[in-house]
Amino acid sequence: PEQKLVIKAKIAEKLKEQDAVLIAHYYVDRDLQELAEATGGYVSDSLDMARFGHEHPAKTLIVAGVRFMGETAKILNPEKRVLMPTLEAECSLDLECPAASFYQFCDQHPERTVVVYSNTSAAVKARADYVVTSSIAVELISWLDEQGKKILWAPDRHLGRYIQQVTGADMLLWQGACIVHDEFKHLALAELKEKYPEAGVLVHPESPEKVIQLADAVGSTTQLIKAAQTLPHPRFIVATDSGIFYKMQQAAPDKEFIAAPTMGEGATCKSCAHCPWMAMNGLHNLLQVLETGKNEIFVEEAIRVKALRSTQRMLDFAK
Ligand code: 13P
Ligand code: SF4
Repeated sequence: PEQKLVIKAKIAEKLKEQDAVLIAHYYVDRDLQELAEATGGYVSDSLDMARFGHEHPAKTLIVAGVRFMGETAKILNPEKRVLMPTLEAECSLDLECPAASFYQFCDQHPERTVVVYSNTSAAVKARADYVVTSSIAVELISWLDEQGKKILWAPDRHLGRYIQQVTGADMLLWQGACIVHDEFKHLALAELKEKYPEAGVLVHPESPEKVIQLADAVGSTTQLIKAAQTLPHPRFIVATDSGIFYKMQQAAPDKEFIAAPTMGEGATCKSCAHCPWMAMNGLHNLLQVLETGKNEIFVEEAIRVKALRSTQRMLDFAK
């Protein structure tokens, strides 16, 4: 613990020296979340991370999360230096939606408005009409639906189907999934609910349909934390990455939180409710990046300019 304090103090000093601000996702290590808050940075969901980085005057943004979050920061802020503790933190949704095949899919359906989840590469965003995060996806697609638009959605099939069910929009879905949320099991969750009948169920919409059906609240990470504060239940079963417990418990200190089950009968748990890529972010690689300037995010300018259109629309819609 003493060593941790020393590293944290060094990081805080470097952040100041370099006019840098730390922006972290709820799923990263709690030391990083603590440090972000203690140094004037921010911890949030992917939409608010993008917003905060865009509005903050710092010359350098340090994004603790996964690659698409760093790329989004660079797309929106080309004049700023964007660094990440690791460049190897991927996202299964991004990996399962390679730009070349996505472009082909779009070419086959030119009449559709292309809406992509922010969990995608800059090249995929460059082909999209709109980028959304889970916090505004339902609202944005229902607004497009009211205008009679047909949607092509990528890459998360669970989130896509959920939006389709809520809005009734005509949506063609790419078939990607998040390896973490795809692991939640509805039968075991229903059993747990029976054991704790007074518990509310909080579910991130990247989870399978039958898990979402058991939810009392469905939403982005920030929306789930708000639900934990506002819903009357004394206890919650939470179907999202376990990194969220740190902030959730802080936000609702009198409530009790239980992790939703990830292992159904006969199933094997690959990611156990914790994103292996988010877990690559740590104090050591953060300090190293600040000392060396390594791990800078670059986005090819021709792609960035196109991706900015769809990403800026996300921020404008979210206002
Ligand atoms: P949020 O936008 O809800 O933070 O989700 C990001 C993510 O990667 C969830 O797995
Ligand atoms: Fe991607 Fe899932 Fe990890 Fe979120 S939790 S970054 S969606 S792999």
